[in-house]
Amino acid sequence: MSYIAVLPGDGIGPEVVDEAVKIIKSLEDLTDIKYQLEFGEVGGSAYEKHGNPLPEITMELIQNCKAVLFGAVGGPKWDNLDSDLRPEMGILKIRKTLDLYANLRPVKIFEALKENSPVKSEILENVDILIIRELTGGLYFGEPKMQMNEKPERSAVDTMFYKEKEIERIVRLAFTISKSNNLKLTSVDKANVLETSKLWRKIVDELGNSFSEVEYNHMLVDNAAMQLIQNPRQFNIIVSENTFGDILTDEASVLSSSLGMLPSASLSFIPGESNDDKKSLYEPIHGSAPDITGQYISNPIGMILSTAMMFEFTYNQKEISDLLFSCVEKVINDGYRTKDISNSKNYCTTLEMGDAIVREIRSR
Ligand SMILES: NC(=O)c1ccc[n+]([C@@H]2O[C@H](COP(=O)([O-])OP(=O)(O)OC[C@H]3O[C@@H](n4cnc5c(N)ncnc54)[C@H](O)[C@@H]3O)[C@@H](O)[C@H]2O)c1
Repeated sequence: MSYIAVLPGDGIGPEVVDEAVKIIKSLEDLTDIKYQLEFGEVGGSAYEKHGNPLPEITMELIQNCKAVLFGAVGGPKWDNLDSDLRPEMGILKIRKTLDLYANLRPVKIFEALKENSPVKSEILENVDILIIRELTGGLYFGEPKMQMNEKPERSAVDTMFYKEKEIERIVRLAFTISKSNNLKLTSVDKANVLETSKLWRKIVDELGNSFSEVEYNHMLVDNAAMQLIQNPRQFNIIVSENTFGDILTDEASVLSSSLGMLPSASLSFIPGESNDDKKSLYEPIHGSAPDITGQYISNPIGMILSTAMMFEFTYNQKEISDLLFSCVEKVINDGYRTKDISNSKNYCTTLEMGDAIVREIRSR
């Protein structure tokens, strides 16, 4: 039996996770993997109950599971807590503890949604990008990290720190994926200013020598932000450090029409290599969306496609993953739209979108 930890979290997290759970249950007859879902608390809801955004009981649950399905955490209610108690600390600690250094964020454009993007349709033609974000280093974790409230002037510091090994492993993963798919790699940095980026660029060039069959280039992050909108087709695979990768993927979601569409997989191994003793986490790239929580208008597709990535990377069942992607595409082609991807006053609820995808799976 394989155990999957399900951590809905806060805001729209539970809404979109409910739909992913429906999908997993509807797939039971199509796969011979025997899995059991184990639910746990994380984020603000865990803080309310346990005084901790990642209580021991949740960490124990994760340690006994092969994969984690994660909704989202955070919300204004907890914005003034000390940094260590904030809901976001729940997900940061899981990433660090499980050493989930590689966050894979595919940006797929569904044909029927092209007209919903503010970017012109012809610019979106043939756009298919994988953004690989380093997830356990950089500004999110570097020390010192603090606010100094002394008079006469307050100050604060965050530290962008990377060790060679941290850069080497994410860049190697990116080169390996590029090589096996025969795709171009773009490394995004800020090497004209930042020391961490200068080291990053050196390591990319060193590895580039041993992956001589991979075509790659460097791009400064400010230029990359512009090029992603102006000429996204030039990109196949992008690799970047933690903060740049986070910002660029939210930007890239505009190409796919909504932040609610994009899934992600957080891994501690190179896809295709042995991962028997490794855990992975799957979550949509969006946050807890407090502005729409409880209205059941959230788009569950990013969460559902994250589940598809779980079947591909944790269970090596690419065929189930492909099936899920194609069912989502069919449902979109059939005209189902949550509010964020609808260009009319008509839209379906989060539950109706999930139900439509389940019906499509059952019809296959
Ligand atoms: N991994 C995580 O859990 C994670 C990631 C990002 C932000 N957050 C947290 O989420 C909270 C809100 O942050 P934010 O508002 O900057 O970002 P957000 O991603 O929650 O929302 C940004 C905008 O996108 C919309 N949106 C997001 N997901 C959607 C979906 N599935 N369907 C339809 N619309 C969707 C929201 O309504 C909002 O207008 C903050 O507390 C932040 O720290 C958590």
